Amino acid sequence: MNRIRAGLGAAAIAAITVLGAAALPNGAAVAGDTGLRSVARPTGVKIGTAVNMDALAADAPYQEAVGREFNTVTPENVMKWEVVEPTQGNYNWTQADQLVDFARAHGQAVRGHVLVWHSQLPSWINETAFTPAQLRDLLRQHIFAEMGHFRGRIWAWDVVNEAFNEDGTLRDTIWLRALGPGYIADAFRWAHQADPSAILFLNDYNVEGINAKSTAEYNLVRDLRRQGVPIQAFGIQGHLGIQYGLPGDVLQNLRRFDALGVKTAFTEVDVRMILPDDNIKTQAQAEGFGLMLRACLLVRHCISYTVWGFTDKYSWVPGVFSGQGAATPMDENLQPKPAYETLKQTFQLAG
Ligand code: XIL
Repeated sequence: MNRIRAGLGAAAIAAITVLGAAALPNGAAVAGDTGLRSVARPTGVKIGTAVNMDALAADAPYQEAVGREFNTVTPENVMKWEVVEPTQGNYNWTQADQLVDFARAHGQAVRGHVLVWHSQLPSWINETAFTPAQLRDLLRQHIFAEMGHFRGRIWAWDVVNEAFNEDGTLRDTIWLRALGPGYIADAFRWAHQADPSAILFLNDYNVEGINAKSTAEYNLVRDLRRQGVPIQAFGIQGHLGIQYGLPGDVLQNLRRFDALGVKTAFTEVDVRMILPDDNIKTQAQAEGFGLMLRACLLVRHCISYTVWGFTDKYSWVPGVFSGQGAATPMDENLQPKPAYETLKQTFQLAG
């Protein structure tokens, strides 16, 4: 069943049929709608990538592929606090603005990443320089400054990232210590005030399947919504490694969020392996990419599937996970791997 048509009345379907693809309500420009984005479009699930802004500026084939393959983009680093406010009160939006402009020119929606996180903070944010009350004010100001700068131009924001430990307790961060556990609700309330049109996400890793961490986040999302806190979506990063096996209950996990009426997305998908790669590892990787996309396409409220880099040329994996890599759907020469073909075929089956 076509997901877009499933959600439309007969008149809307007739209008689409008359006007052709240009009338589809998915927002993407049709000219140049090729690659993965062309097969994603009829499903209603957006296909995205994290973008490395240095590569976008310097590498023409990379830039061409970002425009050709994807209808949503996420800045890999340039909207993080350490980049946008390196010293207190001095904002630098240069590269973030460039991405938003690129996205507009290519008919792409932007996923903003990230507002509240314990990592990649500027060094001036710390607990010796500021009291808890001051840190609360700084966090609030940060959300208003950043979301205000981009107001109306960001489709979805990762508001709070990686707030939980593996056992389902809240992670001990500067924000938990300064503001207490209510910081998550506060962040979403501030974010909704700052840009009421953005879809607001709680986002985390190791929450693909059902486990203590994903269950704690499910419970939090349910409770916050009951309290009227404006949280609309749960983001599953999707950083997998084939050496651990693939999670089997991804679909069941998405389904329980769906039943709450909560949107979901895969926000940072990559599937790494212990190097060197070989055909069997590459096949297992393709299955990992495919299983997450299939789950997304099987529920009603999964809205996008974003890879954390599409080429091994710029992937973060080798720099962080020693001895591992080859984690993306294209090799270092931007040639498609089996994972790319699996993504394409999976979209085609659903479209
Ligand atoms: C990573 C980037 O890919 C790296 O370039 C950077 O050095 C560190 O951060 N979870 C997230 C992302 O939410 O922001 C991280 O991105 C990867 C893990």
